[in-house]
Amino acid sequence: MIIIEQIEALRTQLKAWRRTGESIAFVPTMGNLHAGHLALVKRAQALGSKVVVSIFVNPTQFDRKEDLAAYPRTLEQDCALLQAEGADVVFTPTPALMYPLGGLATKVEVPGISQLLEGASRPGHFTGVSTVVCKLFNLVQPDVAVFGEKDFQQLMLIRQMVRDLDMDIRIEGLPTVREPDGLAMSSRNGYLTAEERHLAPEFNRILREVVDALHKGRQDYPSLQAEAMKSLESKGFRPDYVEIRRVIDLQPPGKNDRVLVVLGSAWLGKARLIDNIPLQD
Ligand code: PAJ
Repeated sequence: MIIIEQIEALRTQLKAWRRTGESIAFVPTMGNLHAGHLALVKRAQALGSKVVVSIFVNPTQFDRKEDLAAYPRTLEQDCALLQAEGADVVFTPTPALMYPLGGLATKVEVPGISQLLEGASRPGHFTGVSTVVCKLFNLVQPDVAVFGEKDFQQLMLIRQMVRDLDMDIRIEGLPTVREPDGLAMSSRNGYLTAEERHLAPEFNRILREVVDALHKGRQDYPSLQAEAMKSLESKGFRPDYVEIRRVIDLQPPGKNDRVLVVLGSAWLGKARLIDNIPLQD
């Protein structure tokens, strides 16, 4: 496995591989890797002959300075995990390399989807995500890129960007990897105290109750959402939202919409948890 920090070195390696007919599968991350990230790497190996993983804590997608400063950086451990997993390249650019002279004039905006839900709670977040992922796609020029459904809205944002800008990249989404107690794996789970960690799976359980109610035929979406918010509050969470949306565009469902997803976000202590459960027909 090669660790590459410089853009030129990355381009040289990728050109060599393309000349010999290798296909490139790409997994962008912010590091502090867990089994969720590693599942994406495994999938990437099945989809491409060479796997590139980027580790870059992207400052422009953090809406709060404290969150950026506190974000766990564990490069050595991450590289050991990726080596064991069989990744071919780890790309670890510095902020100065990605954002020379302090910033970019050009931004990639995906209005609409970037303003809902997570976007409403975290202004500017998704512009930071779409812009950095566009840059990473231009640097790596992968055949396929793998993302987690854990960040459901992010996955939809990337799909929209790729469609709109005619990027010749297949986007592959993978189901959320969870702890045995149901908590979605996340780098931010490390912010939880032992007591909060014990409580955290209630978040997924409460979203699951909404899913069960939908399966039983309930269609009073606003009251289901309100009940879930109340349950979260009574358990000690500070919920941002629990929303039942249609998968196609994350808008509130109409009478005939059946392909739905339940999405939620809630603070627990210092951690802001997000989770979602897609429903089948
Ligand atoms: P990060 O939070 O490190 O996540 C990297 C990828 O891992 C994303 O596609 C995310 O959805 C996926 N992932 C995280 N937890 C997961 C889980 N429990 N199960 C399955 N997949 C999971 O998402 C980002 O970084 C950044 O926004 C990035 C796309 C790298 C742009 O900076």
